[in-house]
Amino acid sequence: MTSLTPADLPAREAYRLLTSLVVPRPIAWVSTCGASGALNLAPFSFFNAVAGSPPTVMVSIGRRKGAPKDSLRNILETGEFVVNLVSEELVEAMNRTSGEYDYDVDEFALAGLETAPSIDVRPPRVARAAAALECRTSQIIPVEGSIYTLVLGRVLRYHLREGLLGPDGRADLQVLRPVARLSGDEYASLGPVFSLSRPSAT
Ligand SMILES: Cc1cc2nc3c(=O)[nH]c(=O)nc-3n(C[C@H](O)[C@H](O)[C@H](O)COP(=O)(O)O)c2cc1C
Repeated sequence: MTSLTPADLPAREAYRLLTSLVVPRPIAWVSTCGASGALNLAPFSFFNAVAGSPPTVMVSIGRRKGAPKDSLRNILETGEFVVNLVSEELVEAMNRTSGEYDYDVDEFALAGLETAPSIDVRPPRVARAAAALECRTSQIIPVEGSIYTLVLGRVLRYHLREGLLGPDGRADLQVLRPVARLSGDEYASLGPVFSLSRPSAT
């Protein structure tokens, strides 16, 4: 075995190692708008669900040249965001929105994506996304010693494409076709799915 401490590694390599080990990561394609109304759309793979009830998700967003990335700036200004889920057919559009554009660039327009209105929050969703989660910020937690800020958001409403919600109340993965981020420029789609029963303690 090789044994390393992050202190042995320059920051870039530490990032590369962690993000190649913690895989596959789901992608939150986050739409926000600022207090001025500026629209923003960008992907974040430091993303997960953290509580079932109330349904809560987390996104961890960094800084650029010392200032919060545009999505974080908007979330701090308004307390609202939408997590659009990325299906295989949207992966190239998602990638186009990940460029480090100026604050006033609308990545919906840049990537040729139509918006659809949200109901409980101001930022619109990606019309073509199979699922979108309207969220209100519930906690903002600086990640100690890092340039990241952990944003927790309570899901206020789900938008689900026709046919996505199965009879058992779960999303049909053949409709969702989720894409995950690996490290660097690598992505994965869902491989074979298998079942495993949980052990019972009695
Ligand atoms: C698939 C993917 C996942 C990403 N995940 C993150 C992330 O979790 N946190 C982060 O700060 N940046 C992440 N980025 C980089 C941001 O998307 C990028 O910095 C973007 O320009 C931020 O946009 P904004 O300034 O409009 O918020 C990711 C990029 C890609 C392509």
